[in-house]
Amino acid sequence: MTTGAKYEVLGLPGMPEVRRGDDVAALIGDALDSSGIGAEAGDILVVTSKIISKAEGRIVVAADREAAIDAETVRLVARRGPTRIVQTRHGFVMAAAGVDASNTEPGTVLLLPEDPDASARSIAASLATRYGVPIGVIVSDTFGRPWREGQTDVAVGVAHLDALVDMRGSRDSFGNELQVTAAAVADELAAAAEMVKGKADGVPVAVVRGLGHLVTPGAGAGVGPLIRDAENDMFALGTSEAMREAVFRRRTVRSFTSEPVDGAAVRRAVAAAVTAPAPHHTTPWRFVLLESEAVRKALLDAMAEAWEADLVGDRFSPESITKRLRRGEVLRRAPYLVVPCLVADGAHAYPDARRAGAEREMFVVSTGAAVQNLLVALATEGLGSAWVSSTMFCRDVVRQVLDLPEEWDPMGVVAVGKAAEAPASRPPRDPDAFIAVR
Ligand SMILES: Cc1cc2nc3c(=O)[nH]c(=O)nc-3n(C[C@H](O)[C@H](O)[C@H](O)COP(=O)(O)O)c2cc1C
Repeated sequence: MTTGAKYEVLGLPGMPEVRRGDDVAALIGDALDSSGIGAEAGDILVVTSKIISKAEGRIVVAADREAAIDAETVRLVARRGPTRIVQTRHGFVMAAAGVDASNTEPGTVLLLPEDPDASARSIAASLATRYGVPIGVIVSDTFGRPWREGQTDVAVGVAHLDALVDMRGSRDSFGNELQVTAAAVADELAAAAEMVKGKADGVPVAVVRGLGHLVTPGAGAGVGPLIRDAENDMFALGTSEAMREAVFRRRTVRSFTSEPVDGAAVRRAVAAAVTAPAPHHTTPWRFVLLESEAVRKALLDAMAEAWEADLVGDRFSPESITKRLRRGEVLRRAPYLVVPCLVADGAHAYPDARRAGAEREMFVVSTGAAVQNLLVALATEGLGSAWVSSTMFCRDVVRQVLDLPEEWDPMGVVAVGKAAEAPASRPPRDPDAFIAVR
């Protein structure tokens, strides 16, 4: 009879309650001996992180839980009510930085081990010495998954085992080349071990036997290959955090790369723009996309001429005029321009200046909201922007060059493109400085 590949996972009985200062490897070795399981070449031990944390004394009183989470956190990913999903200093994205009240004395919480890879290496080294055979070690912890209900155990520390086995480039049984497959072997074994460990049963260690080909002579890269960096994470933030972040990411960009702008991305941003609030259920915004370089140049040349005429009229010196005109260069360097326009169709007519002025302002602020939507949406597309005012100062010229209807009022111009450099950091602004409460 032929059988397929198989391996065994054995819960290790006989582990005592671990206390601060205990030698976990020695306790595991004693349990391996007393249980008769022993150690065979190529065994992989899966050790619950909790017992390592206990041995390391990584216990704090529950009152210090939030401070402990702060200390373990490098990045807030999402907040849901009192729960914080964070990236820990080890790189793991997990609820409450893994600070956990289960399987510890009431009134205390346990932190993740200081360095789970180092713990795995040290246990592996001790047991390899004790038994004279190569041993792999996985330190495991319980994680939730973003797209699935329920928790599973995953690896948080790994030694003498490739945590991630990259199968890209190999072929399946149909001859198709595998493009993306990388097996999260250490996670799979951590989950398998959970089936025989079990939090409630006081079995914190399992032995995986029969997969000796996975055990490597060197300690290896640890758990690192399983950690996805925030830069490569399509979902590096929770939904509401990402929405808020988009607003903060919008910054005025004044120097662009020459990379062309995707008109489809701009159209998606316009779709966001035209969801702005507006008076009287109107839709008073239009966006002129200047996709032709010739049209952009014609507009900027005509605007520069009009501006120069204004400055001559103001009696500025020729040098001062040249200097000022140079400030308009940001638009010339941009690979794409958008002219937002206000069309105050549907505005109510008032006989007096006070009400007529307020009515006009309603439409103007609505245009501001639409342009802000546009800029934020462009930022989410990875596009920088600068909203500059110039077209507002020469509306007739703009209408004439762009052949726009008389009732379209240009409301500045938005330069769009990939930012040539990261914007200077902006110190956070305290909302209270901008708030009056009555
Ligand atoms: C209506 C309006 C007109 C603007 N005009 C110009 C301009 O002519 N030139 C310019 O460089 N920036 C202009 N800006 C951009 C501001 O200078 C910019 O928003 C400000 O420096 C804050 O930087 P941030 O957008 O990165 O937060 C304008 C912004 C608005 C809202």
